[in-house]
Amino acid sequence: MANASGLFNPTVPSVKRGYSPSIAIYRSGSWFSAVGSRRIVCSSTTQDAEKLSPSESRVSRLVSRGCKLVGCGSAVPSLHISNDDLSKIVDTNDEWISVRTGIRNRRILSRNESLTSLGTEAAKKALEMAKVDPDDVDLVLLCTSTPEDLFGGAPQIQKALGCKSNPLAYDITAACSGFVLGLVSAACHIRGGGFQNVLVIGADALSRYVDWTDRGSCILFGDAAGAVLVQACDIEEDGLFSFDLHSDGEGQRHLQANLKENKKDHELDTNGSLHGLLPKGSSYSCIEMNGKEVFRFAVRMVPQSIELALKKAGLTGSNIDWLLLHQANQRIIDAVATRLEVPSERVISNLANYGNTSAASIPLALDEAVRSGKVQTGHTIAAAGFGAGLTWGSAIIRWG
Ligand code: ACO
Repeated sequence: MANASGLFNPTVPSVKRGYSPSIAIYRSGSWFSAVGSRRIVCSSTTQDAEKLSPSESRVSRLVSRGCKLVGCGSAVPSLHISNDDLSKIVDTNDEWISVRTGIRNRRILSRNESLTSLGTEAAKKALEMAKVDPDDVDLVLLCTSTPEDLFGGAPQIQKALGCKSNPLAYDITAACSGFVLGLVSAACHIRGGGFQNVLVIGADALSRYVDWTDRGSCILFGDAAGAVLVQACDIEEDGLFSFDLHSDGEGQRHLQANLKENKKDHELDTNGSLHGLLPKGSSYSCIEMNGKEVFRFAVRMVPQSIELALKKAGLTGSNIDWLLLHQANQRIIDAVATRLEVPSERVISNLANYGNTSAASIPLALDEAVRSGKVQTGHTIAAAGFGAGLTWGSAIIRWG
């Protein structure tokens, strides 16, 4: 079982800390100052930095930095699929689905739509809100388990955004925990790598891997993209207070979409040729899920993770303005909120309209909540993702 947990300075949102020019290094779950470290040699003045290339000048920016969330955006496919629509293809009904899950509708990518376009649209909206030019983005993180290119989809979004400076772009694969991992990765890149503007995009099209004859799983998922711009700032303004991340490969059997063998390969095997030795499989099987086990895992592990992250930030459930969980099932959201003693009016939920959109669900719900005026600048949010891997984790963040 892997375990990573973190604590960013300042630990409590209201605490103001004095500025001290030091190098922030992350080690064993917390950041510490490394003035005089022999491993890192850096230029200490902005003037020096301006003479250097973008990647060289990043080193000179390793000076007590924080990061904050300054823009968000989202995009969903145009095709609506209601519970009644699903009842025409599998033996189910609106009442069963809405009572057991809270889901009423979902959006599904049709054949002429792409996940790359959705991710790009969400990212553009986040940049517009943040008033940041695509040329000033220096990192694009695409959190997805369903990229349209096996080698990663982030560079395609970077290209579609027209980022002329060729910023680094890569994918993070962690199913429904992907966005929380992306946020923490963005913070690490900013605080330890000198990056300035990091786009974190959560985008998934699980509909492409759903078995549309399995009523136990096909009713849950929808497609979407959401994005957040994470920007470097002074340490006093830091907006990621703490995090807590985990994975447990032992639980993978409860939720998986493994490589499947190609029938044609078997036919070739019978000739006793070299084909028998070559690796098989060029596609993935549909999602296989033990819903009850995933439900139990989420209700047990998610509150623990949030409680740990809150403790590291010096907060409790009563200090947060919003609880924002991965939108998998309303019963999971309610159980976690009850355990943390967060009243329902401080819980963000939009899964009735979109279903479980995997890595997109948190930024999609955040974007709706920000644009509707629910989440306001300075609000503290406890966010948590969980899902395949198994993976789970939480982050205590401040909006704006
Ligand atoms: N419509 C009608 N009946 C159904 C349906 C359906 N869509 N699906 C299952 N049933 C039936 C079952 O066959 C079963 O019938 P039986 O009692 O005659 O055998 C009965 O309803 C109960 O089925 P359960 O599977 O026990 O139902 P449960 O209450 O566990 O709800 C659900 C199933 C909604 C899937 C729930 O377990 C759940 O939400 N689990 C979490 C899943 C999840 O969040 N997964 C995504 C993780 S994120 C990621 O990484 C992708």
